[in-house]
Amino acid sequence: MAVRQRPFHLVVFGASGFTGQFVTEEVAREQMDPEGSSRLAWAVAGRCREKLQRVLERAAQKLGRPTLPSEVGIIICDITTPGSLDEMARQATIVLNCVGPYRFYGEPVVKACIENGTSCIDISGEPQFLELMYWKYHQKAAEKGVYIIGSSGFDSIPADMGVIYTSNKINGNY
Ligand SMILES: NC(=O)c1ccc[n+]([C@@H]2O[C@H](COP(=O)([O-])OP(=O)(O)OC[C@H]3O[C@@H](n4cnc5c(N)ncnc54)[C@H](OP(=O)(O)O)[C@@H]3O)[C@@H](O)[C@H]2O)c1
Repeated sequence: MAVRQRPFHLVVFGASGFTGQFVTEEVAREQMDPEGSSRLAWAVAGRCREKLQRVLERAAQKLGRPTLPSEVGIIICDITTPGSLDEMARQATIVLNCVGPYRFYGEPVVKACIENGTSCIDISGEPQFLELMYWKYHQKAAEKGVYIIGSSGFDSIPADMGVIYTSNKINGNY
């Protein structure tokens, strides 16, 4: 399906996890329009429908948005079932992957996203995983015109700040 026609702009995979719940709440908060409903079509994904439903209900309560659970899609998807990863990737423009540890679970998600023309953002803080994905998939991702963005979020900020600090110290020449 052409990227523009996909049902969901964003899918939060692993929304039932400790971090995924915060990510879900933040997505719900950030893309709320002034009338209090969702600006973007988005979904949560994971292997247990009941858990995902509960995450949406908690976010709805916290944000005072009772309609949230009915506005957000639910996709059932398990790392151990490659077909379910393809199905999730096909429905989204961007997958926000919160399922770790990434050295065990990350690669099938990157692969499914690239094969289905979907961009992927993760919250990995695992340098070996990030390097391996770069060497194995950078060329394929470029050919498909998708972005695979690793290591976003709190844990990764000190390393990014270190790069900026060093770059500034050497006048941006590195
Ligand atoms: N960048 C940062 O700042 C930052 C901060 C915190 C954490 N992290 C990283 O984020 C990752 C998640 O951490 P967490 O503490 O949120 O972990 P967690 O609470 O254990 O959550 C793991 C998530 O993965 C899902 N999952 C596990 N196996 C799966 C499978 N076979 N198929 C589909 N989903 C599966 C779990 O689903 P169920 O609910 O069904 O079990 C759950 O939603 C870790 O790698 C951690 O290092 C990064």
